[in-house]
Amino acid sequence: MSKTVNGFSKFSKEEKINWLADNFFSNKKQGISTLKQYLNNDEALQQLHDEFIENTISNFYIPYAVAPNFIINGKPYAIPMAIEESSVVAAASLVAKFWSTRGGFNTEVISTTKTGQIHFMYQGEYENLRDYFYSVKEDLIKATEPITKNMRNRGGGILDILLKDKTGDLPYYYQLHVSFETLDSMGANFINSCLEAISERFRKDDINITMSILSNYVPDCLVVAEVSCPVVDLYKENAEYYANKFIDAVHIANVEPYRAVTHNKGIMNGIDAVVLATGNDFRAVAAGAHAYATRRGKYQSLTNARVRDGIFTFWIEIPLAVGTVGGLTKLHPLARLSLEILQNPNARELMQIIAVAGLAQNFAAIRALTTTGIQKGHMKMHLMNILNQLEANVHEKEILTEMFSQRDVTHNAVAEALHELRTNQQN
Ligand code: MEV
Repeated sequence: MSKTVNGFSKFSKEEKINWLADNFFSNKKQGISTLKQYLNNDEALQQLHDEFIENTISNFYIPYAVAPNFIINGKPYAIPMAIEESSVVAAASLVAKFWSTRGGFNTEVISTTKTGQIHFMYQGEYENLRDYFYSVKEDLIKATEPITKNMRNRGGGILDILLKDKTGDLPYYYQLHVSFETLDSMGANFINSCLEAISERFRKDDINITMSILSNYVPDCLVVAEVSCPVVDLYKENAEYYANKFIDAVHIANVEPYRAVTHNKGIMNGIDAVVLATGNDFRAVAAGAHAYATRRGKYQSLTNARVRDGIFTFWIEIPLAVGTVGGLTKLHPLARLSLEILQNPNARELMQIIAVAGLAQNFAAIRALTTTGIQKGHMKMHLMNILNQLEANVHEKEILTEMFSQRDVTHNAVAEALHELRTNQQN
């Protein structure tokens, strides 16, 4: 038996599974049956998923849920979320309801420009390069015309091409910095195709093109979401004290990177869940968001908060390159349905909805952290995972859920209670 293989991608799905089972599964029968259990009986649907990537052998489920009662710019939304972490959707739903009676969320798209770069090495005189660039600039744009035709007809396309001298950072390094408006598509394929057409036209003997690729750093594709209310409406008791604690928590995330990363991770719990549910690229969004968090030379919070004249305001400013057409958005049936649940937003509206999901998540986390702590709520939501791990049956789950509504949830406490219950039932 060999744990390496040639021509794996050419194997049938059955052959791939058998090869894996022969080489890696401790219990072949069980492993194969787990893989097959997650395959869809609808052949066309399974084939669609098989063809998203190479070497598909099954599907990996994560829960798909919805957090209702979000009011965004006066309009109600139920926000679909795909995520495995127990407390995220519960937190989003609670916060949505909370702010729905306090004016809801207000949002604004600041800008929607995306960037692609052609990185190249050039050892000649800068003036010659600059003259060459300006002499071909029009042609560079012309070279993309077949690709940009539809986008231009809808009002998008290439906004500009700049020549940048980066030799201060790296000897001989220059770039063409290309800005794009990709309207309702995230635009990765569009941007990369344009860049390759431009670099083809731009290349010549003394220009050594290293690579042409979009940037997932999108500081000019920016959205802001905000909530505000009188401090007295924020907490039932000691509102001013807790509002100040909340603001201290945000300030801490602004000065302390260890905290900022966790703070922003909580924001991304909400953001990524919606990005994934709408068939968008959550790795691109996460990379861009975390990079933006370092824009002042230090990793900081993506949210901010203040109290002014008795009014508490909490907001997020985040770059989000997402689409509502192209990619998987219309191809994955659940992504399509997510967009329908969101009332078929355009990309600008989707940016605003996603920013709200991030802000809501951060609000929930900070509110819990600065009052009761997060473990109480988190472990309550995690109870079902513990019960499933311990293979509790429906009846046992019912009894223990009721029991732990009044008690602190820990793995040990649940295991002991289940053991006791089973012992009592036997006697
Ligand atoms: C857990 O997934 C996210 C939190 O740690 C975020 C935070 O600490 O702000 C609760």
